[in-house]
Amino acid sequence: MRVLRTVAELRSCRKDLSRTGSSVGFVPTMGCLHEGHLSLMRTARQQNDSVWVSIFVNPTQFGPNEDFERYPRTESRDIELCRECGVEILFIPPAREMYPEGSQTWVEVEHLPKALCGASRPTHFRGVTTVVAKLFNLVQPDRAYFGQKDAQQVIVLDRMTRDLDFPVRLVVCPTVRESDGLALSSRNVYLDAEQREQAVVLSQALAEVEELFEKGERDPNKITEHIHNRIQAMPLARIDYVSVVRTTNLQPAEKLDGGELVALAVFFGTTRLIDNIVLGERSLIDT
Ligand code: PAJ
Repeated sequence: MRVLRTVAELRSCRKDLSRTGSSVGFVPTMGCLHEGHLSLMRTARQQNDSVWVSIFVNPTQFGPNEDFERYPRTESRDIELCRECGVEILFIPPAREMYPEGSQTWVEVEHLPKALCGASRPTHFRGVTTVVAKLFNLVQPDRAYFGQKDAQQVIVLDRMTRDLDFPVRLVVCPTVRESDGLALSSRNVYLDAEQREQAVVLSQALAEVEELFEKGERDPNKITEHIHNRIQAMPLARIDYVSVVRTTNLQPAEKLDGGELVALAVFFGTTRLIDNIVLGERSLIDT
C-alpha cells in the first residue's frame, strides 16, 4: 500500500495504473475508520482490481459552529486498517492540496440538499459535492462506495454524478451497526455512557416502523408519530427531524408503497446522530 499526500503523486499513480487497464474501486472517507468504512473497502476489494481510499476531514462540509476542529483524527491506526483491508492507494491530502489559496469553485446540487439534514446544515452538501467531485476527477474510479447510513449524501451524489456525467458507478452498502443496533459513526465517540444507552432508541424505532409497514401500515404520519413518541421518551434526546420521503426528490411521501426513506436526526447533547431505513427492503438509488 502506498500513502500519498499530494495531488501530483496521485495523478501520476493514476496515469500508471490506466496503462494496465485495471479497474479502480474508490472509498472516500474522513478517517477515524470503523467497521462501516471497512465494509465499503471489503466490497470494493471484491469488485475491483485495485482499491483506493481517501482520508480527508473536509473543512467545507462543516458549518461554522460544527465539530471540524474536534472531529476525531486517528491517522496511524487508519493507515494500518487500510493496509489490512488490501487497499492499494491511500490518499491523505492536507487541506492546502485540496483547496489551494484562491479556490472559489463549488459544485452544488440545487434542490435535494435543502431537504432533511440540509435544513439544519445549509452549507453541508455543497462541501460534500465539491470535494467528492474533485476526488472523482483525481482518482477517476470505475466504482465509488458509499454507506446507506448517509442516505441523503448518496442521493445528492447520485444526482451530481448523473448531472455532470462522471463515468463512475455508485455502489451503496448497507449500514453497519453495533450489536444493539446503533449505527456505527465516527461521532459515536462523543457520546457519554448515558447518551450511548439512550441512543439505541433510534435504530429500535426504525426497526419497529419497518414492522408496522410489513403489517400493512400505509400512513406516513403514523410512522413519524411512532418514532417521535419513542424518541421523546428518552430524556437526553432532542429531535432535529423525523421524515418519511420519496427517494426521488426527498419530498414528504403522502402514502406508503414501499421504497420510501424513513430518515431521522437526533441530538444527544451537542452530538447529532442520523439513521434511516428504506421501507420494504428496497434500494436507495437505481443502479
Ligand atoms: P465519513 O463519515 O468518513 O464516511 C465515509 C463513508 O462511510 C460514507 O459513504 C458513509 O456513508 C460510510 N459509513 C459511515 N458509517 C457507516 C456505517 N455505519 N455503515 C456503512 N457505511 C458507513 O461521508 C463522509 O465521510 C464524507 O461526507 C465524504 C463522502 C468522505 C466526503 O467528505
